[in-house]
Amino acid sequence: SSLFNCAVLQKMTEAELYSVYKGVHVPTHLHPPESLKYCEEFTFRPDDILIITYPKSGTTWMQEVVPLIVNEGDLTPVLTVPNWDRVPWLEEHRAILLNLEQRPSPRIFATHFHHHMMSESYFKTKPRVLYVMRNPKDVFTSSYHYYGMASYLVNPGTPDEFMEKFLDGKIMFGSWFDHVKSWISAEEKESILYIFYEEMITDLKGSVEKIAKFLGKSPSQDVTEKIADHCVFRNMKQNKMSNFSLVPEEYMDQKKSEFMRKGIAGDWNNLLTKAQEQRFNAVYKDKMKDVTFKFMWD
Ligand code: A3P
Repeated sequence: SSLFNCAVLQKMTEAELYSVYKGVHVPTHLHPPESLKYCEEFTFRPDDILIITYPKSGTTWMQEVVPLIVNEGDLTPVLTVPNWDRVPWLEEHRAILLNLEQRPSPRIFATHFHHHMMSESYFKTKPRVLYVMRNPKDVFTSSYHYYGMASYLVNPGTPDEFMEKFLDGKIMFGSWFDHVKSWISAEEKESILYIFYEEMITDLKGSVEKIAKFLGKSPSQDVTEKIADHCVFRNMKQNKMSNFSLVPEEYMDQKKSEFMRKGIAGDWNNLLTKAQEQRFNAVYKDKMKDVTFKFMWD
């Protein structure tokens, strides 16, 4: 399939690799026009569960946690179905092939869309949303390593070069700032649970309980512990249905950087110089100046 035509991908320019959809850069290869149209026409159910993130904020982690909660700790789905079919991205080209209309409730999906990119059906139905946020300096750091190993993305260049693109939103799914601001100012707050990558790092069991409660589930202590134990980084990293080892090396070269790379909070300290940190903080301060929402990293 065209998905794995990596030799071609590696020669493509920025303009060829990304298209602009509703004002936001998306990797064309993963999200061709027919997929974006599919999203626009997709019909949500009120009991759908949407995992919404800016890329590199904990999507894969939630694609593991949420099916386990919904299936009351049964490991079968996470050990037998790749994460991209278990919790498909609605805007990804594969979604069209998955017959999502036939899936039993509650269906679980992922999306990297900003709030304004969501379809009419989303705003009408207001399905349940888990919005995961992560310290943007760590999102930057994780992205920097990821862009260096994924052939469908533009090579990041130096950290300085990539930082300017990141701060300017000239990368996949646009600006982190716009993404987060769009979702924290959503009107349908009663159907959204805001959760931080950092709180999952600090207290995974507590996070599982919090997510379960939001989803109307009350797993026993044993089940909660089993889920948290399976989803802790060192264990989840071994799950080949979730560590992207099924993806060919030409597409994601995990010898350059593993997908399940470090799984910690604060790794930006190992990448950014003092000057880069100051530059990032200054832009953050400016772009977030009107925001009153309390972030865990502040
Ligand atoms: P790092 O590159 O900092 O290690 P996404 O799934 O949104 O693309 O995010 C990927 C990031 O989440 C990577 O961060 C990855 O290691 C981390 N991650 C995935 N599963 C995790 C887990 N179980 N615990 C902690 N971090 C996890």
